[in-house]
Amino acid sequence: MDRREFTKAGAGALALTTLGVSSATAGPEHMIRKAIPSSGEKIPIVGLGTNRYGVDNSEASRAPLRAALRRFKELGGALIDTAPQYRSSETVLGDLIDELGIRDELFIATKTDVSGAAETDRQMQDSTQKLRTGTLDLMQVHNLRGWKTAFPVMRDWQREGRIRYIGMSTSRASQYADFEAVMRKEKPDFIQVNYSLEQREAADRILPLAADLGAAVIINRAFGGGRIFDAVGDEPLPKWAQDFGARSWAQFLLKYAVGHSAATLAIPGMTKVHHVDDNFGAAHGRLPDAEERQRQEAFYDSL
Ligand SMILES: NC(=O)c1ccc[n+]([C@@H]2O[C@H](COP(=O)([O-])OP(=O)(O)OC[C@H]3O[C@@H](n4cnc5c(N)ncnc54)[C@H](OP(=O)(O)O)[C@@H]3O)[C@@H](O)[C@H]2O)c1
Repeated sequence: MDRREFTKAGAGALALTTLGVSSATAGPEHMIRKAIPSSGEKIPIVGLGTNRYGVDNSEASRAPLRAALRRFKELGGALIDTAPQYRSSETVLGDLIDELGIRDELFIATKTDVSGAAETDRQMQDSTQKLRTGTLDLMQVHNLRGWKTAFPVMRDWQREGRIRYIGMSTSRASQYADFEAVMRKEKPDFIQVNYSLEQREAADRILPLAADLGAAVIINRAFGGGRIFDAVGDEPLPKWAQDFGARSWAQFLLKYAVGHSAATLAIPGMTKVHHVDDNFGAAHGRLPDAEERQRQEAFYDSL
C-alpha cells in the first residue's frame, strides 16, 4: 500500500471505528468477501446500487454522489450496479469514476433491456462508452427484457473479453417463475434478485437454484427501497444483534440478506456518505448463522 492509499484507507477505517467497528478490524483488508462461484474471485459483500445516480450536470447534483463514491472506494467497496434505465446514471458514474481515478479498483455491473441482437450490441457499446471503460465486469439482462436475443450477444462479448461475467436481474416475485426457467436454460455467472426481511420469496426457489447452478447472487432492495426504515421507525434493535455485530437497522437488514448461504453481496442504494459508512459496518465482524437469521425473521415479524 503506498502512502496515498494508506491515508485513504485510514480515513475510511476511522469512519467505521466511530460507528463501533473495532479499530483492529476496521480496515478494508478485514472486510467480509464472498467468492464468485464461476471463477473463485472474491468480492466485498457490500456493493453500491445507483438507480438514484441519474442526475443532471450541475455540481450541486453531482457533489454528494462524488463524495459517496469516494467513501465507497475508501472503505474498500468494489461492485457498482447501474443500468441504461437509470436515466443518466451510467454517464454520471463514468464521469465521477474518471475524475476520482478509481476505475481499476472497481467492479462495474450494468444491464441490457432491448430486444434484437443488433440493438443489444449497440446498447452495450453505448454503456461501455458512457462508463468510460474498455471492459465491463458484469452485464445483466434487466428484468428478462430481450433475454432470448441478448444472451448470445453477451456470450460473444464475453468470449472476446469485453465482458467478464454475464447475468440477469429481477426485483419482482411475479417474474420468478419465468426467471427460474431462464436461469436453468442460460446458466448465467450471476443473478440479481430482491431479498429482504420484508420480501423473502426469493429464498423459496430462486436462491437454492442459484446455489445449485453455481451462480453468484446480487441482492437488490435489501431495505425494500427504504420502506423498511419507515416501517421499523425508532424501534430499538434487540441486544442479540450485537452478537453478529449489527449496530443499526441497515446493518441488521444487510447482514440478514447477505447471511443467506447462496447470497454473494448486497447492493444498497446510497447517495449519502453517512449511509455508506453505516452500510459498510455490515461488511465487518461476522454474518448471522442460520439460527440467528431465523431469530431475525421472528423478531421482524413480531413488530
Ligand atoms: N430489476 C433490477 O435489476 C433492479 C430493481 C431494483 C433495484 N435494483 C438495483 O438495486 C439497488 C438497490 O435498490 P434500491 O436503491 O431501490 O433500494 P434499497 O437499497 O432497498 O434502498 C435504498 C434507500 O435506502 C436508503 N438508505 C441506504 N442506506 C441507508 C442507511 N444506512 N440508513 C437509512 N437509509 C439508507 C437510501 O437513501 P440515500 O439514497 O439517501 O442514501 C435509499 O433511499 C438499485 O440502486 C439498483 O442498482 C435493480
